[in-house]
Amino acid sequence: MAIFSAKQAGQATSLPRHVAVIMDGNGRWATRRGLPRTAGHKAGAETFRTIATYCRDLGLEYLTVYAFSTENWKRPKAEVDAIMSLLDQYLHESIEKMARDRIRLRFLGDTTVLSPKLRQLIAETDEITRHIEGFQANVCLNYGGRDEIVRAARQFARECVAGQRSPDELTEATFPSYLWSAGIPDPELLIRPGGELRISNYLLWQIAYSEIYVTDTLWPDFDAGALDEALAWYQTRDRRFGGLSGKK
Ligand code: IPE
Ligand code: IPE
Ligand code: MG
Repeated sequence: MAIFSAKQAGQATSLPRHVAVIMDGNGRWATRRGLPRTAGHKAGAETFRTIATYCRDLGLEYLTVYAFSTENWKRPKAEVDAIMSLLDQYLHESIEKMARDRIRLRFLGDTTVLSPKLRQLIAETDEITRHIEGFQANVCLNYGGRDEIVRAARQFARECVAGQRSPDELTEATFPSYLWSAGIPDPELLIRPGGELRISNYLLWQIAYSEIYVTDTLWPDFDAGALDEALAWYQTRDRRFGGLSGKK
């Protein structure tokens, strides 16, 4: 299946503005090769670089990836430490590259619990890439969909108690401004490599009407061709949003 740009698409659904990805399967990828799971996380970080650049080249506006969930702290400390130190290394290398490659990097999730060094790197990355327009990659780090919704509700409640808002001001249109993803349109397409048929607490509010594409390909093996396939599949979808078919 070939993908169509918005212009070529005609009757077909055009390319999404925003693609979300659950970067899953790193551990299995490594285990199948007789390597430690950490090697899979390393390979997965490289895949992120490749896919982010490819999304930018295709003219997508946002890529949002799940890098570490609020539940991933349950893993053995050695694996969590290895993921954090890979992130550290990755950000060191990326700061310059992302700016040069014209990719704005943002982080969604509670980063306040991360190490001071990592927080400093995140702040620097944010500062260096904040002026870049055109393409934004969002990295969900210590992110949980339920956590995000509860924090948003708590913040709105605080504003009500402080007399700045009244309960009736909370609507489907105003609520998203309290989420980590404030200002970012909802993803039209969610991709899950690694074959699991679940959401794992990802973007619970934002994916209400996303098309969901699951592939057995493990994240480190996910390449430009795999993304093309997902996009081509997306373009065959009849997005009804509860209404009736727009296609004959
Ligand atoms: C995803 O890969 C990366 C993180 C959750 C940090 P996994 O580590 O979950 O890989 P599998 O699912 O065990 O293969
Ligand atoms: C989801 O993958 C989280 C990330 C990819 C960061 P998991 O491997 O943690 O999900 P489960 O445990 O299979 O649901
Ligand atoms: Mg997994």
